[in-house]
Formats: sequence, C-alpha cells, structure tokens
Amino acid sequence: MSLSWMLFCVLCHHLLVLPTSFYSITNAQSFDYPIANLSTLWTNNLPSLSHNVNFTDRSRVRSLLLRSNPAGFGPSFACGFYCNGTCDSFLFAIFIVQTNSGGGITRPSSGFPQVIWSANRDNPVKENATLQLSGDGDLILKDVDGTLVWSTNTTGNSVVGLNMTETGNLVLFDGNNKAVWQSFEHPTDCLVPGQTLVEGQRLTASISSSNWTTGVLSLFVTSNGLFALAESDPPQQIYYRKKITGTKLDAGPSYVRFLNGSLSLYILSAEPRQPDDTIPVKPATSMQYIKFGSDGHLRVYEWNSTSGWTEVGDLLTKDLSDGECSYPTVCGNYGICSTGQCSCPIGTGNNDSYFRQLSDRQLNLGCSESTPLSCEASENHSFQELKDVTYFIFFVGDANTTEMSLENCRQACLNNCSCKAALFLYHTNASAGSCFLPTKLFSLIDNDKNKYKYNTSAFIKVQIPDVSPTPSLLEKKTSQTVIILGSSLAALFSVFIVVCILIILYRKKNDEEEYEEDDLHQVPGMPRRFSYQDLKDATENFCKKLGEGGFGSVFEGTLGNGTKVAVKCLDGLGQVKKSFLAEVETIGSIHHVNLVRLIGFCSEKSHRLLVYEFMSNGSLDKWIFCRNQEQSLDWKTRRKIIFDIAKGLAYLHEDCRQRILHLDIKPQNILLDDNFNAKVSDFGLSKLIDRDQSEVVTTMRGTPGYLAPEWLSSMITEKVDVYSFGVVVMEIVCGRKNLDRSQSEDSMHLISLIQRKAEEGQLFEMIDRYNEDMQLHGEEAMEMMRIAAWCLQSDFTKRPSMSVVVKVLEGVMNIEPDLDYNFSIPTLAAATVAHKEVDFGGSTPLLPSVLSGPR
Ligand SMILES: *[C@@H]1O[C@H](CO)[C@@H](O)[C@H](O)[C@H]1NC(C)=O
Ligand SMILES: *[C@@H]1O[C@H](CO)[C@@H](O)[C@H](O)[C@H]1NC(C)=O
Ligand SMILES: *[C@@H]1O[C@H](CO)[C@@H](O)[C@H](O)[C@H]1NC(C)=O
Ligand SMILES: *[C@@H]1O[C@H](CO)[C@@H](O)[C@H](O)[C@H]1NC(C)=O
Ligand SMILES: *[C@@H]1O[C@H](CO)[C@@H](O)[C@H](O)[C@H]1NC(C)=O
Ligand SMILES: *[C@@H]1O[C@H](CO)[C@@H](O)[C@H](O)[C@H]1NC(C)=O
Ligand SMILES: *[C@@H]1O[C@H](CO)[C@@H](O)[C@H](O)[C@H]1NC(C)=O
Ligand SMILES: *[C@@H]1O[C@H](CO)[C@@H](O)[C@H](O)[C@H]1NC(C)=O
Ligand SMILES: *[C@@H]1O[C@H](CO)[C@@H](O)[C@H](O)[C@H]1NC(C)=O
Ligand SMILES: *[C@@H]1O[C@H](CO)[C@@H](O)[C@H](O)[C@H]1NC(C)=O
Ligand SMILES: *[C@@H]1O[C@H](CO)[C@@H](O)[C@H](O)[C@H]1NC(C)=O
Ligand SMILES: *[C@@H]1O[C@H](CO)[C@@H](O)[C@H](O)[C@H]1NC(C)=O
Repeated sequence: MSLSWMLFCVLCHHLLVLPTSFYSITNAQSFDYPIANLSTLWTNNLPSLSHNVNFTDRSRVRSLLLRSNPAGFGPSFACGFYCNGTCDSFLFAIFIVQTNSGGGITRPSSGFPQVIWSANRDNPVKENATLQLSGDGDLILKDVDGTLVWSTNTTGNSVVGLNMTETGNLVLFDGNNKAVWQSFEHPTDCLVPGQTLVEGQRLTASISSSNWTTGVLSLFVTSNGLFALAESDPPQQIYYRKKITGTKLDAGPSYVRFLNGSLSLYILSAEPRQPDDTIPVKPATSMQYIKFGSDGHLRVYEWNSTSGWTEVGDLLTKDLSDGECSYPTVCGNYGICSTGQCSCPIGTGNNDSYFRQLSDRQLNLGCSESTPLSCEASENHSFQELKDVTYFIFFVGDANTTEMSLENCRQACLNNCSCKAALFLYHTNASAGSCFLPTKLFSLIDNDKNKYKYNTSAFIKVQIPDVSPTPSLLEKKTSQTVIILGSSLAALFSVFIVVCILIILYRKKNDEEEYEEDDLHQVPGMPRRFSYQDLKDATENFCKKLGEGGFGSVFEGTLGNGTKVAVKCLDGLGQVKKSFLAEVETIGSIHHVNLVRLIGFCSEKSHRLLVYEFMSNGSLDKWIFCRNQEQSLDWKTRRKIIFDIAKGLAYLHEDCRQRILHLDIKPQNILLDDNFNAKVSDFGLSKLIDRDQSEVVTTMRGTPGYLAPEWLSSMITEKVDVYSFGVVVMEIVCGRKNLDRSQSEDSMHLISLIQRKAEEGQLFEMIDRYNEDMQLHGEEAMEMMRIAAWCLQSDFTKRPSMSVVVKVLEGVMNIEPDLDYNFSIPTLAAATVAHKEVDFGGSTPLLPSVLSGPR
C-alpha cells in the first residue's frame, strides 16, 4: 500500500468514526444515585444503563445504584450488573468500585470491581435481562426471555424504596425507614466491615475463582463455634473449627462480626456482649472485605491506591494443623497433598492405574478414576490402599467419626455403595480406631510420621475394570505418529540446509560488495570517533538492547573510563558517507541541557553508529503509557517533562546556528535521566534546513499519529514539531497513546476524542484516570491541555512557536484565548487536494525518519 494512501486512510478514519467517551454519562451530577423509588425498571443493556465501565481484567459493570464514598473519591459501593470474560452472562451484584471526585467509576486498570454479594450466582442472566422494583415493593430479576430468576418476595411488606447504604448493604425499606429485606441477611461469600454472619446464615464459596456458581465449601456459626466444611451429604466434612465450649448465656443467636481489626465470635456471651473469641485482622488503612474463597481460605482484601486490591490476611490457615494441606480442595478430589505439592494415588505393581491426573500442568485440579465406580458392578469393587495418608477431618477435634476396627471400617464401606473410601486412624491397635466413610473424597494428606504419633490408612474404593483394553490399537497409533514425526523432521531438516546455504551465499556476495572507506576524513574538533571494535567491546558485543527506533537499535555500553553510553546502530546508511559526517558534526556541536548529547560516532565500512549519553530512566513512553501505578508519574513530574521538551525544541528551532527541525517528536524520542529531566533525542537525524528556508523537505517522515496536517501540503516548517509536541503533551496529560488500537474504534484516536470532549465541555474526563495525583491537579491539567490544543491548530500559522510555549509555561505569557478545537477537518480537505503533489519518496509503510537523504 502506498504511503500516501495509508496516511490518507488514517486521517479519514479519525474523521469518519464518531469518537465516544469512556463513560457514556453526560451529566456529572447524576453519579451519586444510591436510592431508587418504587416502579423502577432497569434493563441490562448499554443504551439504558449509562454508567458502565469496562475494566482491563475483562470484567464490566453496569451500575444501577451507586453510593459515592463519603470522602469524595475512593472505594464506593454500587449494585448493578456484573460480568467477566466473554460477558455472555451477568450477575445482579453488589460490588466495590473506585470513584473519582466527580463520582464516576474510575481506575479501570486497577480498581477492578470486587463482587461482595450477588443475587443469582447460580442463574446468571443475559443481556437485556431486567431488574424491577415493582409498584408493590418486590425486587424482581427476570432473564431476557421473561423467566423469573430471583426475587425478594417482599410484595405486601409496605416497601417504599431501595437503598444502597454506605456500608454496602442493599436495603428495601418501608415508610418508617425500616429494612424489610437486606442483602446483609443473605450473604454469598463475602463480609464487609460491620457485617455479621448470624447462626443460620452461611458464606458459601464459589466453584472456582473463575466460575461464580455456588460450590461445596461453606463457613457458618453455631452455638459451638465457627466452622468451615466441605459439603457431601452425609456426612459433612469439617476442616476448620474454632471451638467454643461452655453454656450459652443468653437466648440470642450466635454470630461472627467483622470489624476493623477483628473477626469476633459471639457465641455464649450475655449482654453487654464481649466476644468469646476473635480472629485478628490487620487494622484497615482503607476499604477491606473478607472473602470465603473457592479454595476454602478466608481471606481479607484491602484496597491500596498504589497496588490495587491486595490480600492482607488469610484467617483460617494459622489454626489449621497441616497448613495448606488441610484445605479440602487443595489438591482436588483424590489428590494427595504433601507440603503443598499434589500427586495422585499410585499403587504398587499392576495396581497403579486406577487414577490419573485431570491435568498434566495443573496438578492441583485433582485426579479422576480410570474406571468410574459403578453400583451395578459392586461385586468388582476393591480398595487401593494408601499407607500413611490421612484426611483433614482427623485434624479437627471430635470429627464425626465412628469407633470400630479397621476390618469393619473397610467392610462398612464396601457395603455402602455411595461410600468412596474407608479412612482409618488408630494409635496402636488397628482393632480400635476411628473410621470415616466419605461419600465424596476431597484431597488427602501425606501423613508426616515425625509430626503425628498415630497411624493412618486410606482405602480408596476402586472399580476393577471389566475387560482390559486392547493394546494393539494403541501401539498402531504410536508407530504411525513416529512415522509422521520422522518424515516431518526430515523435511524440516532439508529446508534448514537449503536456508543455510542461501544465507552463506548471500553473506559472501555482500562481503564482496563491501567497499572500503578509508578516504573518510576525520571530523575536526568534533565528537570522538570510535572504531567498530571499540563499540563492540563497550557494548559487550551488542548484548544489552535498550530499544529499537526508526533508525535502528540502541544498545547499552560502558566506555573504557566507565562512562555509560547508549550506542545507536543506524540501519541502511552504509552508503551515506559525507553527509553522515556533516550531520554528526552538526549534532555534535549542539549542547543543551534538554537535548541528549552526542558523545561520539563510528563510521567504518558499512557500520554507522552514534554514541550518546546514557539516560537511565529510558524513554517517556514507558512512563506515560504504563498502567502500573508505581511507575505512573505525578503531575509535577509530568509538567516538568513538558517544560523540558519545550525548552529543548525551542533551542533546536530558534537558538542554533542552523535551524534544526526534529520531524519525529514522539514519546519514544524523549529520554529521561535519573532525576526525570527530559531530553530530546534523535534530533538532527532528520534533514537539516537553513534558517531562511522553509520548504525544502521533499521526503515525508515522522510517525503516524504525530504528523502535522501540512505534511500533505508540503509546507514544512518548524510548526510540524510544534504539532507533534502538542500530541505528546496530550498523551502525557491523558496517560494514553494518541493512536491506541487496543481501544474501541470510537476512542482509538485520542485527538479526535479530545475534540469531541472539548465540544461537549467534558475535557476534564480525558485527564489520566489511572492517576489520582493527576485527578487532584485537574485544573492545571486542563490548562496544559489548552496549551496542547493551541499547538494542534490545523492552521500551522496559528500555532505558537516553541519559545512562546516556553513563555506560557513560565507564566509570562497567556494562552491564545480563541482556540479552534476542530483539529482535523481541514486536514481532510488538505489531504484530498494535496496528496498527489507531495513527493512521498520512500515507500516504507511506517515512515521511520531517514537520515538526510541525498539533497
Ligand atoms: C423518589 O421519590 C422522591 C419523592 O417522591 C423524589 O424526591 C425522588 O427524586 C425520587 N427519586 C428518584 C431516584 O426518582
Ligand atoms: C465496553 O465493551 C463493550 C463491548 O466491547 C462496548 O460495546 C462498550 O461500548 C464498552 N463500554 C465502554 C464504556 O467502553
Ligand atoms: C475476570 O476474568 C479474568 C480471566 O478471564 C481473570 O483473570 C480475572 O481475575 C477476572 N476478574 C475478576 C474480578 O474475577
Ligand atoms: C437488547 O435490546 C435492544 C433494544 O430492545 C436490542 O436492540 C438488542 O439487540 C438486544 N440485545 C440482545 C443481545 O438481545
Ligand atoms: C421467593 O420465593 C420463591 C418461591 O417461594 C423462592 O423459590 C425463592 O427462593 C424466594 N426468594 C428469596 C430471595 O427468598
Ligand atoms: C439509606 O441508607 C443510609 C445509610 O447508609 C441512610 O443514612 C439513609 O437514611 C437511607 N435512606 C433511606 C431513604 O432510607
Ligand atoms: C460453572 O460450573 C458449573 C458446575 O460445574 C457449570 O455447570 C457451569 O457451566 C460453569 N460455568 C462456567 C461459566 O464455566
Ligand atoms: C482501623 O483502625 C486503626 C487503628 O486500630 C485506624 O488507624 C484505622 O484508621 C481504622 N481504619 C478504618 C478504615 O477505620
Ligand atoms: C500499598 O502497597 C505498597 C506496595 O505495594 C506499600 O508499599 C504501601 O505501604 C501500601 N500502602 C498502604 C497504605 O498500605
Ligand atoms: C493390588 O495388588 C495386590 C498385590 O499386588 C493384590 O493382592 C490386590 O488384589 C490388588 N488389588 C487390586 C484392586 O487389584
Ligand atoms: C467383574 O469382573 C469379572 C472378572 O473380571 C467379570 O467377569 C465380570 O463381568 C465383572 N462384573 C461386572 C458386573 O462387570
Ligand atoms: C455425624 O454423622 C451423622 C451420620 O453419619 C450425621 O447424622 C450427623 O449430622 C453428623 N454430625 C455432624 C456434626 O456432622
């Protein structure tokens, strides 16, 4: 595709596609909306639910009610539709999201919604499902086909409204503001600060971390204490118990309450209540919640504005005698846990094929029976004995086991078809021990004989296969595979040989063509000249690549005197001799604190290398396009960087002996030293023009996204750099690339998006959402965007010069008040007329700048 055509397409594209905002909310006032009245209907689709956000972990929320954090911004409770991944099914859920000072849901790359309650985890609904707060006070969730999925059954209870409270409780209240129904009374798998889990309620973990369906593990309180168990009916398999012994002192229900610093058990206490036991929790510095996970852990999560949601506590593990191995699902069903490692039961001799791993890579998924147990063929049931293997229930005091002999235990299991194993524990005498007969076998534990003084035996029921599988088929398959594999390898090998020969021939030819350049004269009084070998040594044979630019790769090196340098290997310039030296001379003569200094060069045979000062913090793009909070720059640093770039460019444009147009200003060409001083690099590599000439560039260069519109009209002045600078400033303030193909089509092009936001008066929405400091300096950031907008004026004569930009940043000049935010429309006109007239020279698609082509 021709260059001009490509460029034309890029321009057309951002004109034709209507940019839309990140939040499809038009009224900033409507962000805090915690209460709904009767007769409200919400439909789960984008047009009707405006406050929706897509997060980078592929989850999405569509918020129905949102209670903004009282502090003004930070973690807030909201309820609405939640989905993750493919998003073909949704939960009606309560989740914690991050809101900004405008109340909008923010931080899509770190403030992932934390679902703390859901109504329909077992029956997710589809797009266009409805939630209705009916006129008679019932809250009804219906799927798109109209089927009733969930309801609070509160018709006739005088409900007058629905309230999302500050504590994360979703409440249907009556005329006296009394709760008729509340989500706190129907917990799923989480507790938030202030919430209680009362006798009769339970937290039930989901099946897995990615499947929110109700699983088998649950946590509950009884008058005996706090329990966690794995469901298998009967018997229940308890793996955790915080036992409280004694007599209940009052008639109230037992409960556990999560407060800042503790999870307290109230079991026996009389009023005024003192906890009977507490599990300490790390005191909160920010929002916390407790989640009962699919792995059976009870974990505390806390919001940290730097690192997002982090785990700050694992509450049950310290009370479990075998740590990680005491969790029922740690190694999946039938898996054996040995200090956190998982394996499958292996027998002796020909007995070892009763179980196989469900996954070769994820051993913790557990094992499956090679031949499933069948009650019809119970006469062919047998046991696989596992010595010194125990089971988590034995670690819990007074487990629900039966006293009997080992033989009776085995027989009892054989007699009961649903029994999956006979698990036996005894101290000295196998004729009297504890027998446990599970109907479902979770993870087993390798019994450390040094740790426990008792003996354990596990007899796992297996089905002896009816007929042994015929091996002939297997064998045939294997031999076929070998043949196919063999012939493919042979073919590959011959291709390899041919390629090698070609490469050798090609190299030889190149060597012959290589010319000597001994006639090159030494540049007088200029940057140091290095031999190729010097630089090879300095960079340890070009081993540490710092990056790759339009001109070639850059490597880290250390000179003999210990100075760190960046060595740029210019590609495809082997032919350029005199002009190369001339340019080196020019570049080497330019010294400015905001320009990367050229230390030396190498011009030997076809090698063209430039040696620059080393900039320890790399290029700007790494700092402004990353979503990593720790790397994200604060407002002050960003402002300083912008100022530095402006000063560097002003020097190039106006203070040099020869006016230098950079022609490829972009974040990749702005380097940062260890104090975040910004320096412009790669200047002078583009064509130099004299002060009084302005229209000599005939070869188009630069990088799409940073190209000024007049590239199409061939009027190239220093104002193309001003334009690119404007783009970079917008990128710095907004924290995203101008052309970001990972965004939806509407918002792919930042400058178009800004144009639209400016028209709507919503420019502030564009300020880097992932950075709280940027949000705090919203006004100054807006001002900076206005400077950038000035630099982006379509008519290049209306753009300020870089020295004017510097003055504005210094505060001694004002911004042009009459700015045209219509950045791109004249471009299309220009493109249609002009693209034929411009000599587009090279045909490289992405226009890496070319070091002075022949003039
Ligand atoms: C609910 O009704 C009250 C009084 O009838 C009204 O003031 C309020 O604006 C309504 N709220 C919503 C969200 O419609
Ligand atoms: C979220 O993603 C969906 C599907 O890709 C898209 O239709 C929607 O516009 C996105 N929403 C926002 C707010 O970006
Ligand atoms: C959403 O799903 C992705 C994988 O599909 C997972 O990595 C991520 O943790 C999930 N997010 C939440 C909040 O569950
Ligand atoms: C949802 O409803 C809207 C409007 O009724 C319709 O345009 C859209 O196709 C529906 N989406 C699905 C997935 O059914
Ligand atoms: C509402 O009533 C239906 C039918 O009696 C029942 O299946 C459902 O579990 C009830 N919902 C709640 C939230 O109690
Ligand atoms: C909603 O809940 C909050 C508690 O977070 C309470 O202060 C407020 O009075 C409630 N509003 C109504 C209308 O019940
Ligand atoms: C979740 O697990 C249930 C039960 O195993 C299964 O039926 C369902 O398809 C799973 N859902 C997803 C989204 O994988
Ligand atoms: C939790 O308690 C600690 C002191 O124990 C206090 O410093 C902290 O601010 C409290 N956190 C919250 C969220 O109240
Ligand atoms: C947030 O996390 C970082 C490390 O990820 C830690 O240094 C910092 O102390 C945490 N902040 C708070 C308030 O806990
Ligand atoms: C396992 O092997 C032992 C001896 O090798 C044998 O006595 C026992 O019957 C075998 N068990 C099964 C289930 O095949
Ligand atoms: C039990 O095993 C025997 C011997 O392998 C076999 O003959 C018989 O058919 C099996 N019984 C059933 C019900 O599969
Ligand atoms: C103990 O097991 C019996 C039957 O095996 C069952 O009825 C009882 O509920 C179990 N008790 C507990 C605490 O699990």
